[in-house]
Amino acid sequence: ATRATQHVPTFNSTIFAHRGLPSRAPENTLAAFDLAADEGATWIETDVDIIADGTPIIIHDTALDRTTDHRGKLYDIATAEELAGIDAGSWFAPEFASERVITLDALVDLLNRRKLNANIEIKANEQGAERTIVLVDAIASSLARLDDEREIIISSFSQPVLMTFHARHPEYAIGVLYETAALYDDWLSVLELCGASYIHPEDAGLTRERVQAFRDAGYGVNVWTVDARDRANELLNWGATGVFTNIADQLIR
Ligand code: G3P
Ligand code: CA
Repeated sequence: ATRATQHVPTFNSTIFAHRGLPSRAPENTLAAFDLAADEGATWIETDVDIIADGTPIIIHDTALDRTTDHRGKLYDIATAEELAGIDAGSWFAPEFASERVITLDALVDLLNRRKLNANIEIKANEQGAERTIVLVDAIASSLARLDDEREIIISSFSQPVLMTFHARHPEYAIGVLYETAALYDDWLSVLELCGASYIHPEDAGLTRERVQAFRDAGYGVNVWTVDARDRANELLNWGATGVFTNIADQLIR
């Protein structure tokens, strides 16, 4: 599919199932995303980076240790075939032993099949202009297989990555991630430089005035990571457009 027009944010309240439903299935696996869809989620959040041969894969950490039975760094994995032998579920519970670290292509198939939209956070742990171009083009090439109705937000803490993505693939909506401590007064010019539609601030320390200022500047505001129902309601009442949450099943109900 070609995505000919710039995504126009609708700014409805959006519950992003963060890494799927990580309290009930191993994070960032097909099982976790399927479960989120079963529970009524329409948006998921996930993390992407590339392995040695440039294949985009779905994983949060730079190393495989925490979420698989394999020890070592992501960049030492040569090909997607190598990933197929790695168990990404047993660490969570024995019944998930068949879960794998999936490619972005496999995630795209799932988004199409389950009619899910996705915030795709680019981890980009390995910096450098050349590698960044490989990374963003590989991600865009996978996303080209999405059905036209599917919505995507590309986010990152890395502003160079977002600027490169926006310059090369301007048809995708961009969200700029901020930790509270890094949120200085230059956020408006950063959002403009990145071609962003959204700002994704950290929940800690976020105030009604901040949320209002982001909205008044015309941006959608999706807050991470909000695991308490009262706080999610408060943020959405302040005008936040969405929350990333590990308890999407409870917030949707
Ligand atoms: O996208 C929001 C959130 O996922 C960013 O932090 O560490 O959970 O990827 P992290
Ligand atoms: Ca993330």
